[in-house]
Amino acid sequence: MAILEVNNLYKSFGKTEVLRGIDFSMEKGEVLSIIGASGSGKTTLLRCINALEIPTSGKILIDGDAVYDSSANTGKSKSDQRRWQLACGLVFQSYNLFPQYSALDNVMLAPKLLAKERPDYKANKKQIIEEIHSHALSLLERVGLSDKTGNYPCELSGGQQQRVAIARALALSPKVLFFDEPTSALDPQLTQEVLRVIRELAETEMTMVIVTHEMKFAHDVSDRIIFMADGLIEADGTPDAVFGGDNEKLRTFLGNIEG
Ligand SMILES: Nc1ncnc2c1ncn2[C@@H]1O[C@H](COP(=O)(O)OP(=O)(O)OP(=O)(O)O)[C@@H](O)[C@H]1O
Ligand SMILES: [Mg+2]
Repeated sequence: MAILEVNNLYKSFGKTEVLRGIDFSMEKGEVLSIIGASGSGKTTLLRCINALEIPTSGKILIDGDAVYDSSANTGKSKSDQRRWQLACGLVFQSYNLFPQYSALDNVMLAPKLLAKERPDYKANKKQIIEEIHSHALSLLERVGLSDKTGNYPCELSGGQQQRVAIARALALSPKVLFFDEPTSALDPQLTQEVLRVIRELAETEMTMVIVTHEMKFAHDVSDRIIFMADGLIEADGTPDAVFGGDNEKLRTFLGNIEG
């Protein structure tokens, strides 16, 4: 069964149709990169799949659960959207960390809030918080930041902040992890640090969708590439098939990047 399925997804802002019928699905553990020119709708697609933007119509299933279905009116209520958001994790271009919290507290914040809703929270509070704490420490270790857990965002480099953001996104164990140009705000050396972490995650069972302008990285790390143009998927396949394909819009896009 697919872990993520997007069916006939449309999104308009006023009269501007940004997504014009997007269809794709992913298997567990798959790493998909989405490429395409500026304005082609990549961020809008991620935001729609992550419930940060409500699509105009279509259907989204995460691990078989129809989190959004315009024909059944699913995904519009606050409680629907909460369930939907919990299934996904999103790492933004700008890290969006809470400046007043340490790296560790940034990672622990959402799991702590969620834990308060557990029926056994009061009875087992100490143990629950300890588990969240040790999980957060192991996530920070995974992104290579064991020595920075007590540091505040302003004391971390851009690459380190982005790695905290990745640990934070992993903290709620999302079914699919999304990245929107995770390195575009970083200089080349810090970019490599962050790409290394994403590469390591790609080796695990994590299902990931990465919007990126790093073509070499997309080619090397992905099982699959989707090329978007004008709100549509123009090409979808293995990196070699897509990069070697003869789609005219793709050739123009790649030519512009190289140029
Ligand atoms: N909230 C909004 N209101 C109106 N138009 C929007 C909104 N968000 C996005 N758009 C429009 O949707 C189109 C696609 O934008 P989007 O940000 O999805 O592109 P993108 O592929 O991520 O581009 P980039 O590579 O520059 O990040 C653009 O024309 C943009 O102006
Ligand atoms: Mg974008």
